[in-house]
Amino acid sequence: MKKKITLIGAGQIGGTLAHLIALKELGDVVLFDVAAGIAKGKALDIAQSSPVNGFNVKLTGTDNYDDTKNSDVIIITAGVPRKPGMTRDDLLGINLKIIKEVAHGIKKTSPKAFVICITNPLDVIVMALQKYSGLPKNMIVGMAGILDSSRFIYFLSQELNIHPKNINSFVLGGHGDTMVAMLGSTEVNGKKINELVKEGKITKERLNEIVDRTKKGGAEIVKYLEKGSAFYAPAASGVEMAESYLKNLKKQLPCAAYINGEFGAKDIYAGVPVIIGSSGVEKIVELNLSKEEKINFNNSIKSVQELFDAAKKIDPELK
Ligand code: APR
Repeated sequence: MKKKITLIGAGQIGGTLAHLIALKELGDVVLFDVAAGIAKGKALDIAQSSPVNGFNVKLTGTDNYDDTKNSDVIIITAGVPRKPGMTRDDLLGINLKIIKEVAHGIKKTSPKAFVICITNPLDVIVMALQKYSGLPKNMIVGMAGILDSSRFIYFLSQELNIHPKNINSFVLGGHGDTMVAMLGSTEVNGKKINELVKEGKITKERLNEIVDRTKKGGAEIVKYLEKGSAFYAPAASGVEMAESYLKNLKKQLPCAAYINGEFGAKDIYAGVPVIIGSSGVEKIVELNLSKEEKINFNNSIKSVQELFDAAKKIDPELK
């Protein structure tokens, strides 16, 4: 039987997700949005491309949670994106309210789904989503690390004139200014990036600039777009997570997952490498971090915790 994938939020990312999922034939797609017309219009538009692209999945649009019933996967992008000058954290108040409504909707209709959240501020919104919905922690996960890592790898590939496939790296911690590019685990053609610095292939300063550009990668796009934030790369990253779950690929992917002791953090959602398979988040992969990476990771966790404390002040139900 075909899988059922519901996309809550049919905006820029939601629409792109639907298109990618259809092209990959991962399952039937239900686009849900409070603006029903947008959901129905995009579903119909993408469906009308099926004769050209040759995919065989059903696409529907709705504003009724009953139509999302028994979804296998739910990807949430409901919420407001950033405008120039805003940080992701500025979205907290408004997106928290939206996520509460979404949590109640999916809890009622798809309590067994694997839920991927993309709405910002990511780590805190995922944590709130888990608390509001009460769904198992291994079945709720946030998309950020794949995107941040992909940006970092892309910038490095451009700098070194090397195909991104030959670069391994990941970015962990919170999805904000404190995210941590793991330089100790960054390899180009199997060689540690620090070796390339020693060999003079890239200077330490240039590498730091690339790390900094990665941290501000989202803001750079918001500045260009003026009316919204990135959507192609975020959607591609969300689809990779959904595919690993649906096909039990057990890929190791950096995601915002529930940490309970791993990496020295407790009872918090933040970006760590996880294995995603048919049981959801099957494992957190612990790494040996350098002293500097550890300090930066702890700092990132601290800022996620502070933002979650702010969320608790907005809604005491989040205790
Ligand atoms: N339920 C369902 N959909 C909602 C709700 C709700 N309660 N509230 C808002 N939406 C819908 C909007 O109608 C809109 O169509 O969410 C959609 C969001 O789409 P965009 O504004 O295009 O935003 P997008 O670029 O897709 O980003 C969505 O993901 O990366 C994050 O920061 C980004 O928080 C933002 C989210």
